Amino acid sequence: MKLKTIIKKNNSKNIKEVVARLKAGEVIGLPTETVYGLAGRYDNKNTIENIYKIKNRPKSNPLIIHYSNINDALNDIHIDSRARDLANKYWPGPLTLVAKVKNKSICKSALSKMNTIAVRVPSNIIFLNILSKLKIPLAAPSANRYGKISPTSANDVYEELNGKISIILDGGHSLIGLESTVIDLTGKKTKLIRHGAINKTELNSIIPVNDKKEKLKVFISPGLSNSHYKPDTSLRINALRPKKNEAWLAFGAIPKNFKGIALTLSEKKCLKESAKNLYKMLRYLDKKKCSGIAVQKIPKFGLGIAINDRLKRAAFSDRTNVK
Ligand code: TXA
Ligand code: MG
Repeated sequence: MKLKTIIKKNNSKNIKEVVARLKAGEVIGLPTETVYGLAGRYDNKNTIENIYKIKNRPKSNPLIIHYSNINDALNDIHIDSRARDLANKYWPGPLTLVAKVKNKSICKSALSKMNTIAVRVPSNIIFLNILSKLKIPLAAPSANRYGKISPTSANDVYEELNGKISIILDGGHSLIGLESTVIDLTGKKTKLIRHGAINKTELNSIIPVNDKKEKLKVFISPGLSNSHYKPDTSLRINALRPKKNEAWLAFGAIPKNFKGIALTLSEKKCLKESAKNLYKMLRYLDKKKCSGIAVQKIPKFGLGIAINDRLKRAAFSDRTNVK
C-alpha cells in the first residue's frame, strides 16, 4: 500500500504526535546528528520487520538501538571498563558500541538473531527529546533504501522513502553528515568496524583500537560491504581533474574558468565541512545525469579517513574490483 508521506516541522504538537505513533508501532523518519534514521520501537516484531521491508535491507544485517541516556544503553549490554570509558567520553554522540546483549526483551530480528547488539546515545536534541518522552529505545538504521546514499535532510528521506512511511520529522541538515563510528567490543581486542566522525587517533587516546581489515574475523556488516553508499552515476575517486562530460566534486576552490557542472566539498579544504556536504552533493550531482562524477583527492587523515572510506564504497563496481 502506498502511503502519503508528509514532512513535519519540529514543534511540540508534532513531537507529541510522533511519540504517540512510535509508541503504537509506527516507523518514522527522524533526524540524528550523523544522518537521518528510520526509527521504530526496539521491542515490537512487526515494527522491526517493517523497517527491514521499507529499506529493502537483508534480514541478516542488524540494526543500531538508540537510547536516551548512557545508563540505559549500558544496562542492555555486557560491559567492561572499555565500554564505560568510551560511553562516558563520547555519549551522547556519533559512536556505536557492539557488545554481547543482556536485555532479553529486545526484538530478536532487530539483532538478526545474534547474541550481540549495537547501541548508541545520539546527541541530536530532537531525537533525544523523542527518546526521553517515549521511554522506549528505538531501532534506527539510516533512512535510505538498502545500498543507496544515506539521507542528511528531511527532503533526502522523502526522495528515498516517499510512499513507504507517513511521517518524516524535519530537523534541518544533519550536523555531521556521515554515519557513526562503530566499535566492536565483543572480543579482547577492540575493533573499529566502521570509520566515522570519531576517528582512530581520538579513540586511541582512550583505548587502543584495531582497524586492520585482514585481522577482522567479524561478519561483513552492510556498512562494511564493498558496494554500499552508492549513487546511480559512476564515481571516479582520487581524481586530479574531471574528464569531458564528468561532473566535478572538488576539495578546495573550483577554477574560475571551469565550464562544466561542479561543486566543492569545502572551498577552504576543511574536512568537517566536507563530511557534512559529501552525501548532499553526491545526491545533487547524481541527478545531473553526467557520464560520471569525478571526486578530487581528499587527505586520508582525521575525518578524511571516513570520507575516503565512504567514497571508496560509493565508487566500487564489480568491474573496477576495488578491494
Ligand atoms: O549514524 C548512524 O549510525 C546512523 C544513525 C541513524 O544512527 N545509523 C546507521 O545505521 O548508520 P545502519 O543500520 O545504516 O548501520 C549500522 C551498522 C551496520 O553496518 C550494521 O551491520 C552494524 O552497524 N551493526 C549493527 N548491529 C551490529 C552487531 N550486532 N554486530 C556488528 N555490527 C552491527
Ligand atoms: Mg546505513
